[in-house]
Amino acid sequence: MSRVTEINHPLVLHKLAIIRDKNTGSKEFREVVEEISTLIAYEVTRDLAMEDVEIETPVGIAKCKTITGKKLAIVPILRAGIGMVDGMLKLVPAAKVGHIGLYRDESTLQPVEYFCKLPKDIEERDVIVVDPMLATGGSAIDAISMLKKQGAKSIKFVGLVAAPEGIKALTTKHPDVDIFIAAIDEKLNEHGYIVPGLGDAGDRLFGTK
Ligand code: PRP
Ligand code: URA
Repeated sequence: MSRVTEINHPLVLHKLAIIRDKNTGSKEFREVVEEISTLIAYEVTRDLAMEDVEIETPVGIAKCKTITGKKLAIVPILRAGIGMVDGMLKLVPAAKVGHIGLYRDESTLQPVEYFCKLPKDIEERDVIVVDPMLATGGSAIDAISMLKKQGAKSIKFVGLVAAPEGIKALTTKHPDVDIFIAAIDEKLNEHGYIVPGLGDAGDRLFGTK
């Protein structure tokens, strides 16, 4: 069964309040999404495999631990997921980045696929799917199904704001995928928007609408 982790660190909650504010402009929105993503990356990478090494210090031999070099892939769901990539790469700069293009049809709320480009060895990598919003869950579910079809075996989902409906749908469809999220909000409205949420993440990141 999926583990759902709410990242309720004070810095994350403070920054989340900034991006929820309808008066926050695109420049600040982008910067703060990147900062939150770095903070969440710290939590998501907590279980990276480690190995024992001996390091010669100027004074003696220290028994240390280093990351084993298990490969990572960060996969944003376009467009809004792009806003989270640089923040994550700050902590794991060697990760490869794949892209999955999906948009929600505004009337049916069903995700429509338009792009998929993944690292060739995706089946060997720990994959972190990023998208700020988990609303109905349709986009995340489809993106993860596409990844599994390409051979990915170890997948986590990282978002900023979720609706309870999206959490339920994603954990039901992909119970092997752990979820890391900064906030679980109240509900979806009749247009499939998260309430109170933060609005349309892609539009706010890129200044479109
Ligand atoms: C948003 C968001 C998610 C999706 C969430 O993308 O970034 O991908 O909606 O909704 P769901 O859980 O109901 O599928 P959108 O379709 O607006 O595309 P965009 O990122 O290109 O703006
Ligand atoms: N996509 C968004 O960007 N915001 C929502 O509230 C729901 C889906």
